[in-house]
Amino acid sequence: LRPIHRLLSCPGTVAAEARREEQSSGSTETGSEDRAHKTRFSEVQKERREQAQRTILILCPNKISEKKFLKYLSQHGPINNHFFFESFGLYAVVEFCQKESVASLQSVTRTPGTGTEAALPFRSRFFNLKLKNPSNQTSEQSCIPCSNQSPPSSKKLFELLCDAESIDDQLNTLLKEFQLTEENTKLRHLTCSLIEDIAAAYFPDCAVRPFGSSVNGFGKLGCDLDMFLDLDEIGKFSTHKTSGNFLMEFQVKNVPSERIATQKILSVIGECLDHFGPGCVGVQKILNARCPLVRFSHQASGFQCDLTTNNRIALKSSELLYIYGALDSRVRALVFSIRCWARAHSLTSSVPGAWITNFSLTMMVIFFLQTRSPPILPTLDYLKTLADAEDKCIIEGHNCTFIGDLNGIKPSRNTETLELLLKEFFEYFGNFAFNKNSINIRQGREQNKPEPSPLHIQNPFETSLNISKNVSHSQLQKFVDLARESAWILHQEDKAHSSPPSNQPWGLAALLLPSVAKNMSHAKKKRKKPASERIKNLLESIKSSSTENSTNTNGK
Ligand code: CTP
Ligand code: MG
Repeated sequence: LRPIHRLLSCPGTVAAEARREEQSSGSTETGSEDRAHKTRFSEVQKERREQAQRTILILCPNKISEKKFLKYLSQHGPINNHFFFESFGLYAVVEFCQKESVASLQSVTRTPGTGTEAALPFRSRFFNLKLKNPSNQTSEQSCIPCSNQSPPSSKKLFELLCDAESIDDQLNTLLKEFQLTEENTKLRHLTCSLIEDIAAAYFPDCAVRPFGSSVNGFGKLGCDLDMFLDLDEIGKFSTHKTSGNFLMEFQVKNVPSERIATQKILSVIGECLDHFGPGCVGVQKILNARCPLVRFSHQASGFQCDLTTNNRIALKSSELLYIYGALDSRVRALVFSIRCWARAHSLTSSVPGAWITNFSLTMMVIFFLQTRSPPILPTLDYLKTLADAEDKCIIEGHNCTFIGDLNGIKPSRNTETLELLLKEFFEYFGNFAFNKNSINIRQGREQNKPEPSPLHIQNPFETSLNISKNVSHSQLQKFVDLARESAWILHQEDKAHSSPPSNQPWGLAALLLPSVAKNMSHAKKKRKKPASERIKNLLESIKSSSTENSTNTNGK
C-alpha cells in the first residue's frame, strides 16, 4: 500500500526504539524482564525534535488517492513516513527524510488569493492541498486508513475490561488503550515545531519543547500539550570564549524582573500566534499566573496547548517521571489506572480548581511504590547518588541532578502483582496521615508537613513548593473515602472467589466506570454500606486475619 516510503531508509531510530520499549512494557508481568537497552530522555527528545522539523501537516480533500498523494509529495524528496487522521477534515502528517524537502515544497506553494477576505501571507509548514480537477480523481479514491487520536469510549473500555482474564490483565489493557500512540506523539512534537517556527520570527535560535504528560510516559490520548519556549540555547552562544582584550555584548532593553521579561515575551508570542498562527485559535494570555502562560487550541491537531517560557525545571521533572515510568512495567499500568479511576469519580477535572491533579496522583503512585518491600522504585536521592558528571544539573539554584542513563539503575526484586498493588494503593492512601505527613519522593518516606495545606506533596526539585497546594480539604476527603471504598470492593471480590457473570463489571471495571460509580452510590444507599471510617476498621481486621493470603495473589 505504501511503496514509496517503504523503499527508502532514513536516519533516526532512537525514538522508535524508545517507543517500542514503552509500548511493549504493558505486556510484561514484572519489571525485571524488559531490561534491554533503554534510551535516555534527552536523546529521545532531540531526535523527536529533529524529525518534527522535517515534517509537514496538510489539510487534504476528503477524497484522495494515497498513492498519487505520496507520489506528488516525493517530487520534493523521499518520505520517511506518513499517516492520516480525521479532525474536522482529513489531515496528513508527512515526514520527509531531509529538511530540504520542506523548503522545496514551500518554494512551489502559493499563498491563497481569497475573494472578499485578505490572507496574512505567513508561510508555515501547515498546508492546504487542493485538487486541480476534482472530477478526474474521484474514480481512483481509495478508503484512506486513518490513525485514531482519541481515547476509547467508556463502552469500549468497559467491554475490554470485562473480557480481560485477570485484574493484572485489566490494568495492562487500560494502559494499552489510553497511552499515546506513535502517531499522536509525532503530532505533538510537530505541533511544538510549528509553534517554534512562529516564535523563531523573534528569536531565531529558540526551541519550543514539549514537557509534562506529552513526553513523560504518563500521557493519555486527549491530554493537553504543555510546551515551553526555551531561550537558553540563545544564551549559550555568548559563553564561547573570545580571545583578546575585548568582550562584546548585545545592546538590550532591561526590565525590572525576570517575571516581567517573561510576560513581555509571552505577550508578543501570544499576539503573533493569534494573528499569524495557522490553526491557532482561542488564544488567551494568562500572564498574571504564578507561571505566566499563553493558552490556545491548535485546531488541526485538536490539542489544547499551554505555552510557557524558561520552564527547564518542569522539563527535568518530566525526565524524572519518564525514568520512573520506564524502570518497571508496573509503574505506568498502575498510574494510568489510578488516573482513570480518579477521572471517573470526578476527583480530577479538566478545569483548574481545588481538585487533585494527574501530576499529584502520579507522585502519589511513585511514592507508594517506593514504600513497598522490597521497593519497586528507588528514591530520588538514590538516583542522585548514581549520577555522573554529565548528569550534573543545577537550574536556578535548584539541584536537579539524577542519573539519566536508565541502564545504570538496577531492576527491583519486588514481584508483587498489579492486582495486589492496586488494592494496597487504595489501602495505603485510605489510611495515610495526611493531617501531619507530607509525601516526598526524594526520600521515599513520609515527612512532617512543613505547612498546613490539606495535601502536601513536595516538589522534587523546588523543595519548598507543594505541588498540591490547590487541593481543598473536602477534595482530599473525597479521595480518601473513594480509596477506602475501592479497597473494600476489591477485598469483597477476593472473598467471593467465584468469577462474576461476564456482563457484570468486575475488578477494575467495577471501580472505574462512571455508570458503575453511580450504581455504587445507589447500592450504598440500598445496602447501607459502611461509612468510610467503618470500612477502614473492617479492612484492618480483614488484613490482620489474612496477611499470608494477601502476599499470595500472584498470577490470578
Ligand atoms: N508542574 C509542576 N508543578 C505543578 C504543576 C505542574 O512542576 N504544581 C509541571 C510538571 O512537570 C507537570 C507539568 O508541569 O508534568 C505539566 O502540568 P500538567 O499539565 O498539570 O500535568 P501533566 O503531567 O501534563 O498531566 P495532564 O495529563 O493532566 O496534563
Ligand atoms: Mg499536561
